[in-house]
Amino acid sequence: VTSIPVCARDGDNVTRPSERMPWYTGRTLIDALEAAMPTRETHAAPFRMQVQHVNRVGADYRGYSGTIAAGILRPGQAVTNVLAKTAAVVERIVAMGDDLAEAQQGDAVSFTLDREIDISRGDVLASDTLPERADRVSARIVWFGETPLYRGREYLCLFGPRGVTGTVVEIAHRLDVETLVEEPVRELRFNEVGRASIALNQSIAFDPYTTNRDMGSFVLIDRQTRNTVGAGLIVTAEKETVDVYWHRMEVDKEARATLKGQKPAVLWFTGFSGSGKSTIANLVEKALAAQGRHTMILDGDNVRHGLNRDLGFSEADRVENIRRIAEVSKLFVDAGMIVLSSFISPYRAERLLARERVEAGEFIEIFVDTPIDECRRRDPKGLYKRADAGTLRNFTGVDAPYEAPENPEIRLPTLDASPEELATKVVAELRARGIIS
Ligand code: ADX
Repeated sequence: VTSIPVCARDGDNVTRPSERMPWYTGRTLIDALEAAMPTRETHAAPFRMQVQHVNRVGADYRGYSGTIAAGILRPGQAVTNVLAKTAAVVERIVAMGDDLAEAQQGDAVSFTLDREIDISRGDVLASDTLPERADRVSARIVWFGETPLYRGREYLCLFGPRGVTGTVVEIAHRLDVETLVEEPVRELRFNEVGRASIALNQSIAFDPYTTNRDMGSFVLIDRQTRNTVGAGLIVTAEKETVDVYWHRMEVDKEARATLKGQKPAVLWFTGFSGSGKSTIANLVEKALAAQGRHTMILDGDNVRHGLNRDLGFSEADRVENIRRIAEVSKLFVDAGMIVLSSFISPYRAERLLARERVEAGEFIEIFVDTPIDECRRRDPKGLYKRADAGTLRNFTGVDAPYEAPENPEIRLPTLDASPEELATKVVAELRARGIIS
């Protein structure tokens, strides 16, 4: 610690010595900063590196490149690919001119190994005590996305060069930065700081942030806009999911679907309230049932009476509403059914999540494209009237957003066709896509 008396307003002892403080004979602030050498705390920490690049030249040259996040690297040292659990010995640390005898934290290196083990971009190499592995972590989150962080929404989490999809399964609290009180919340807004549990769809290798900044931090990317929306500092691994194994059943989706003589699918109807989703879905289901298809319909107004009774219409609740429906739809697809899900589902992110829960070709997004003014004119439940009068808040299309599909499998403009015609169009499209014969 160096103490420097300064007068920042006039620059005394900041850039030049102060005549007004003749009793101080030490350095100015600028001189002190320039003389300060960054210290490297390398020697105690075990070696860590995230692989940035695998350089293949010819048949046998494999160079592994990256910046050393901790520790020292020397030829002869054993390194482990933490996630693959394979190990090899460092042969050469390649540099311009002669090979290096040693490299340390902060150095960008490229090196070769004595044998070929499977290593690709994003893998973590380590020596001595290995970093932790987990597919669920508790992290401090700093949020700077315009859209809040929601529980249940998926984000791309970048751990150095490695990208893994992660879902916030719980928000433990938000930290009030004025009072340092930890408050329970359901979302984190712009510039808020909090603590959350994140479930990842693949394991990562990491050290807690307090042990190593590079090995313990990540950024969160919005999967739609590709914007960086948050930063995460890993506190610990969470072990809860480790003992939950996916049980592989002998009667699987194919067997169940074959018994029913059909291909399972999700018909996902999205559009404004009053756009005609439920009416058309109902007609499509009738037509499918008449052909002996096994179907199930999930509808916003109905599911909200049971499974989702605890949810309202805030953004956070709608995210959770659709997340649950996406999972339920997937279960019905596993049961070999054709499921018709009819929800406003206003956010692209959750419709993408629903799509990704099933296999390619099994998800048919159907945009019931009715302009808001027409929905307002129809107003079958009198809700637009209440929303326009301000007695019903967060109403989609009035004071809550709707992100229209960009590339739906089927678009149904409802202004100049009857519900029957549109249902026939959906059935024809299902036939064209080989979902029904
Ligand atoms: S979603 O946005 O979460 O997908 P969902 O489809 O389940 O909505 O429910 C929409 C239905 O709830 C509407 O058809 C309407 O009957 C009713 N509803 C009640 N309040 C609202 C609101 N604020 N915004 C939209 N729909 C509402």
